[in-house]
Amino acid sequence: MAHFPTGTGLPPWRAAVLTLFPEMFPGPLGVSLVGQALDAGLWSLATHQIRDFGIGRHRAVDDTPAGGGAGMVMRPDVIAAAIDRVRETDPDLPLLYMSPRGVPLTQERVRELSDGAGAIILAGRFEGVDERVIAARGAREVSIGDYVLSGGELAAMVLIDACVRLVPGVLGADESLVHESFEDGLLEYPQYTKPREWEGRATPEVLMSGDHKKIAEWRRAEAERITRERRPDLLHRKP
Ligand code: ADE
Repeated sequence: MAHFPTGTGLPPWRAAVLTLFPEMFPGPLGVSLVGQALDAGLWSLATHQIRDFGIGRHRAVDDTPAGGGAGMVMRPDVIAAAIDRVRETDPDLPLLYMSPRGVPLTQERVRELSDGAGAIILAGRFEGVDERVIAARGAREVSIGDYVLSGGELAAMVLIDACVRLVPGVLGADESLVHESFEDGLLEYPQYTKPREWEGRATPEVLMSGDHKKIAEWRRAEAERITRERRPDLLHRKP
């Protein structure tokens, strides 16, 4: 039996995923630090099969788009029934709908979400979900990038992984967050380890100097250089 540090009988961070493919989970979320944290009860993962809320003998979850066009659209009544069922047990979690049309997922939004109690995440398939259920149930649309996946499940996993690793106790002291990419608005400085020289390439001398102030200055300058070269947009972003 897991011990929950919240004292509420609930894990500190809870993910509930609505999907047609619950067998995709936990998948990559079941291994390494995040998987160990799942086993330890630091977070929980519940999947809900949308088809269980489907209509009729064939448990239909989708239908043709109003106005014509290619593909199928997930029905609002089916999706609402699934959401309402999950909300019976966890009414206060924010509802997210993974979609390339959503607000971009950033480390700042990840931090906000991980500070909360978790999320109910709708992973769509086909051409998407009927617009009315997004509005009626107050779902926030979230995108993980400007490309189209074949469904929201991988996007949900990305979001969950990014949030869970910030839940207190999930990362050990060794995996400190202090100098991570994005945490100070910059990409991370380059890292080196042994051997000191490899294939004719030497580790920068300053890192071998033992001068912690110099090392910190060098790392900061490198982080700024790399950010300027690769992602100048980050430098103009509000903190
Ligand atoms: N579903 C399909 N593509 C997606 C994306 N880029 N982000 C979030 N959800 C998605």
